[in-house]
Amino acid sequence: MTDAADITLEVKNLTTRFGNARTGATVVDGVSFNLKRGRTTALVGESGCGKSATALSVMQLLEPPGEVIAGEVKLGGVDLMRLSDAEMTEVRGRRIGMVFQDPMTSLNPLLSIGDQIAETLTAHTDLSRREAEQRAVDLLTRVGVADAGRRVHDYPHHFSGGMRQRVLIAAAISCSPEIIIADEPTTALDVTVQAKILRLLYDLQQAMHASLLLITHDLGVVAAMADEVIVMYAGRIVEQADVDTLFHRPRHPYTKALLACVEGISDRAAALEPIQGMAPDLKDPPPGCRFAPRCPSVRDVCRRRDPRLAPYSARHDVACLLVGEEAADG
Ligand SMILES: Nc1ncnc2c1ncn2[C@@H]1O[C@H](COP(=O)(O)OP(=O)(O)O)[C@@H](O)[C@H]1O
Ligand SMILES: [Mg+2]
Repeated sequence: MTDAADITLEVKNLTTRFGNARTGATVVDGVSFNLKRGRTTALVGESGCGKSATALSVMQLLEPPGEVIAGEVKLGGVDLMRLSDAEMTEVRGRRIGMVFQDPMTSLNPLLSIGDQIAETLTAHTDLSRREAEQRAVDLLTRVGVADAGRRVHDYPHHFSGGMRQRVLIAAAISCSPEIIIADEPTTALDVTVQAKILRLLYDLQQAMHASLLLITHDLGVVAAMADEVIVMYAGRIVEQADVDTLFHRPRHPYTKALLACVEGISDRAAALEPIQGMAPDLKDPPPGCRFAPRCPSVRDVCRRRDPRLAPYSARHDVACLLVGEEAADG
């Protein structure tokens, strides 16, 4: 279905570990996915399942003892894992823009807003300092900062959380990247501001025809913004499909449970009771399916055999031993 030319980023078998082989934890375990031009791919799953580690591995921004131990990340046919630090610095910011959760820690408190955006621009383009400053004003206006010509001289602490996130988005898009990675971009913000920031990201992604990898644990946001959805559980992808299929024909019991939590929002008791039990310790995951200890449909075989992600239909992959049976049941 997918034209290869539409793929901007190709991630294959990405495997990331914190710590050594004996005592460490493999927190991203053989993850493969593609991002498509002009499309938004949501990466969802409970806290600790490896979403941020996946994004940081792609960007090569993991802090030790985190380490990518296997896999490829191809951008335009080039494997980013083989680039030098200098080449990777060039990719970050220019070809892949990033927006992180906490806009305060991502901004330098000692630099004016204009200087931080101009810094990205002068590092990655031929613009002069003057031109970069003018571009910073244009970018701030574009992301909805009022009176940008004056505010460009202000420092991060002069801005509200929502405005700081707009500044970071301006920096992320300053070099017109083909890919934007946003990791829980609104988690630190007031609820009323969240929707505005997501709307801004959505509008920019559409206007730039960029690929957006949107990491979130909010399925309402996924429904509103995503074209494709990847569901992670305990370091692995357990299901991926286009957004309609995932919401209307989920196949993995974990995806079904996540969706049931959202449907329960009208029903307070259900909404307050997320999926029972805890995700496994990634230092010592259970044999068989990692979701088996919490799975309402679990069978004996699930505790012995490890399901691999496999095509269920044309653009729908599931890692569950029971999906074949379920299809047979109707
Ligand atoms: N610096 C670190 N050292 C050791 N383990 C870590 C570190 N950072 C994250 N982890 C572990 O990696 C796993 C995935 O974390 P993360 O990618 O942050 O999850 P998510 O973003 O989905 O909430 C978790 O089990 C977490 O405990
Ligand atoms: Mg995270």
